[in-house]
Amino acid sequence: MGYLSKNFINLHELKKVELIEILSSAKQLKADRNSERNLLDGKSFILLFDKPSTRTRISFELAISELGGSCIYLDMKTTQLGRGETIKDTAKVLSRYVDGIIIRNANHQDLIEFSNHSAISIINALTNESHPCQIMADLMTLKECFGTIDGLKVAWIGDGNNVANTWIQASTLFDFKLNMAIPKEYIPKKAILDIAKKSSKINITQNIDDAIKDANCIVTDTWLSMNDDENERSKKIQILNKYQVNKDLFAKVPIDAIFLHCLPAHRGQEVTDAVIDSDRSHVYQQAENRLHVQKAILKHCIPN
Ligand code: CP
Ligand code: NVA
Repeated sequence: MGYLSKNFINLHELKKVELIEILSSAKQLKADRNSERNLLDGKSFILLFDKPSTRTRISFELAISELGGSCIYLDMKTTQLGRGETIKDTAKVLSRYVDGIIIRNANHQDLIEFSNHSAISIINALTNESHPCQIMADLMTLKECFGTIDGLKVAWIGDGNNVANTWIQASTLFDFKLNMAIPKEYIPKKAILDIAKKSSKINITQNIDDAIKDANCIVTDTWLSMNDDENERSKKIQILNKYQVNKDLFAKVPIDAIFLHCLPAHRGQEVTDAVIDSDRSHVYQQAENRLHVQKAILKHCIPN
């Protein structure tokens, strides 16, 4: 199919058929890591990040290099953007140098503005609102573990953050049920809640036992995201304390239920060592899948 969407910004803005194609292509690219060595021959990319990263940066740099392309990592603060050059001017200039820009940006609206002024592909490598590349890797991991995503029950436990938002966006397209236990104080913002309210597949509750009932997968994330207000730290940890994924919680879920976490984890807060280090945990497989799925995203969004 190839090249339907040039940008990869929010999952629900793509068509389901595109996401299915990306997952299938990621499977092939994982099965043969040496395939498609020339796919991005002559293509160049910029990774423009304003937040730290281990997995996203390394897996994108490696994905681009293994597909034959080249890339430059730019810390946003060291560019003229950091001194107030406009997003419009930056986007128009960079569009003349490279074939795609992978952006990690604190402010989702800035990413949208960047894409509005770009003639090239823009890929969202995490904003305060969403993390689509991550959830594609998570869906790939679910498929590897269960053979299918259809009919699964995914239980999100914890903060209603950017990763939670993206699970909601994904569940509007895929046939899994999403039961979320999120404290009232931290439920997602209205625009995301509106998406959730329209879907009979999504349920948001403060009752953890209800959310994890019959779950195939328990998923959580840090209680404090990179964009969170540091002054809220102790209040947030206190409120989220009872949403910890631990042995007691896992004792209540089916024997074949798995644990996912996008990492980095804050062991002892949202998840205990006993869970993240157990054989139910697939977090390193999930992290590896970032590489394969991002190769597939590049293959999909970048014209030959
Ligand atoms: N999961 C994830 O995006 O990790 P990094 O912040 O290390 O890129
Ligand atoms: N919710 C986390 C995800 C990190 C990959 C954050 O935004 O910091």
